[in-house]
Amino acid sequence: MTNSILDVMRKRRSIRKYEEKEVPRELIDKILTAAFFSPSASNRRPWHFVLVTEKDTIEKLSRARDGSSRFASGAPLVIVVCADSEIAGRWIEDSSISAIMIQLMVTELRLGSCWIHIRDSVHSEDQTAEEYAREVLGIPSTIRVLCMVATGYPAQDKSPHEDSEFMSERVHWEAF
Ligand SMILES: Cc1cc2nc3c(=O)[nH]c(=O)nc-3n(C[C@H](O)[C@H](O)[C@H](O)COP(=O)(O)O)c2cc1C
Repeated sequence: MTNSILDVMRKRRSIRKYEEKEVPRELIDKILTAAFFSPSASNRRPWHFVLVTEKDTIEKLSRARDGSSRFASGAPLVIVVCADSEIAGRWIEDSSISAIMIQLMVTELRLGSCWIHIRDSVHSEDQTAEEYAREVLGIPSTIRVLCMVATGYPAQDKSPHEDSEFMSERVHWEAF
């Protein structure tokens, strides 16, 4: 592939519609390889990734939140991005970085993805989205859940990001 990293970044869009076609194991392995290349605070590498391809489980996960997670029911693959908060105080940053590494690799592989936020989100009146995801997937309580990355072959076209998105007024040289 001849994409420069900037091309990949331009092309990364939130894709919420997917073809009914599974993501081959070989591509999943590449995506995970990218995730494990992520930097992490003090090199603690606290990540855990739960790969979900079973339709019933994906359907349950898509109910983690209100409308903002429902589209995941059409995804052939959901990557649940978690981290061990007992070994890494900066687990939020560490797992956020791994989620974007995943999304960029997904784009490079001509797949589409969308981040679905879980941490600090509500499932129902008496359960957080994180507790719900933990229950559905059997995730231990010491492992925190940041987000899910719904992934699949794109069934929607989105235009790449453009240079006009550069916010020069937000760039402060030397002092704010
Ligand atoms: C921290 C974070 C949380 C997000 N949560 C959701 C979500 O729960 N559901 C969703 O459909 N998109 C979610 N998104 C995707 C954003 O809506 C999307 O990135 C934004 O609209 C910009 O569009 P683009 O990704 O196509 O550039 C989230 C993105 C980030 C970075």
